[in-house]
Amino acid sequence: MNIVVGVSGGIAAYKSVQLVRLLVKAGHDVTVVPTDDALRFVGAPTWEAISRNPVTTSVHDDVARVRHVALGQGADLIVVAPATANTIARMAAGIADNLLGTTLLASVAPVLIAPAMHTEMWRHPATQANVATLRQRGVHVIGPGEGELAGGDSGPGRMLEPEEIADAALALLAPRDLEGLRVVVSAGGTREPLDPVRYLGNRSSGRQGVAVAAEAALRGADVTLVAANVAGDVLQAARHPSLRVVHAGSAAELGAVMRTEAQGADVVVMAAAVADYRPATVSDRKLTKESGGVTAIELVENEDIVAGLARDRAPGTTVVAFAAETPRSDEELLERARRKQQRKGVDLLVVNEVGWERGFESAENAVRILGRDGAVVASVDGSKRAVAAALWDAVADAVTADAEHDAH
Ligand code: CTP
Repeated sequence: MNIVVGVSGGIAAYKSVQLVRLLVKAGHDVTVVPTDDALRFVGAPTWEAISRNPVTTSVHDDVARVRHVALGQGADLIVVAPATANTIARMAAGIADNLLGTTLLASVAPVLIAPAMHTEMWRHPATQANVATLRQRGVHVIGPGEGELAGGDSGPGRMLEPEEIADAALALLAPRDLEGLRVVVSAGGTREPLDPVRYLGNRSSGRQGVAVAAEAALRGADVTLVAANVAGDVLQAARHPSLRVVHAGSAAELGAVMRTEAQGADVVVMAAAVADYRPATVSDRKLTKESGGVTAIELVENEDIVAGLARDRAPGTTVVAFAAETPRSDEELLERARRKQQRKGVDLLVVNEVGWERGFESAENAVRILGRDGAVVASVDGSKRAVAAALWDAVADAVTADAEHDAH
């Protein structure tokens, strides 16, 4: 989607560089519109490099394409960060003598502002009245937070952190089509202990499952993310008020947690990479060379968690599995996937081709999504977030089709 980020002249402008980066990373086309004053804090080359789009501040640039209105007309969302007392006052009054002003006036898109100013300016009745006017018009206001301000003062007036502003911006863009649904998503990879210090594991980082969970929360679902050995920085992407994280280590633990959490869920997504086998015995003490060493490990099979969830589900629960394949051809990929879908009894299957270089530990993914009848309902080659969005589109379609079927 098209996001315009308006930057007004405050020291917090440097934090908006990170905000722009996060919005671009989430797959959006971002155009930065700094005021002249803002360029004294962060220059145009920085905004252009980070947003990957040209930056202009003047209404007289690119007149042929009527840039001063086109930007606003084409925007799906406008974020003003930092929003200084001056910019807020101009917005309230509808003043349009710079590109940000004309862009705002020419737009019907939702607007989010992140105020940043000195405490006295924030508390001034003029600013408070202007903010109240903007709120009345439907402008979303996030912050300011309390904390240290430029010059050593402290109090309300500090712009919120870029991550928080980006989350709020993305939430405004997301459709709320999963509102009222309770979903459970597993992510990561299980570790099957051998002894207190060693395990058999896999290369799954949990990024794809975390993206699936975060996208569901953005679209209004109540989400439980069951994380199997997902690193803290990866879990960061799952911060959301309606998302709860539960941890599980081994396949047995993951199975037990999933069975509990899946009760009463509308949708269950098994994105975690589960070990098919575990060591037959787990030593209480570290296995050492002195105690005889280990040259072979006897394995026993783990239960198929998703097959069990599909078998025991309550009517109306949609179950989604993932499949990572290393096929020799495209036909083989789809054939294997369809067999897996049937064997596990799941509604939807997300298939991705993996290899030494593909699929794991990266932000990108290429997948096919199989619908109930095994037909490919979506093909995505993009960010893990884009894959997550396509997955929920497919789930929403399947749930709607069920509801229509039940109504007849
Ligand atoms: N899965 C599971 N429990 C297991 C193994 C896998 O719930 N013990 C789930 C995974 O979470 C994933 C799906 O099953 O959603 C597919 O996993 P995959 O490893 O591709 O399938 P396998 O059943 O292991 O088949 P194969 O080894 O033949 O590819």
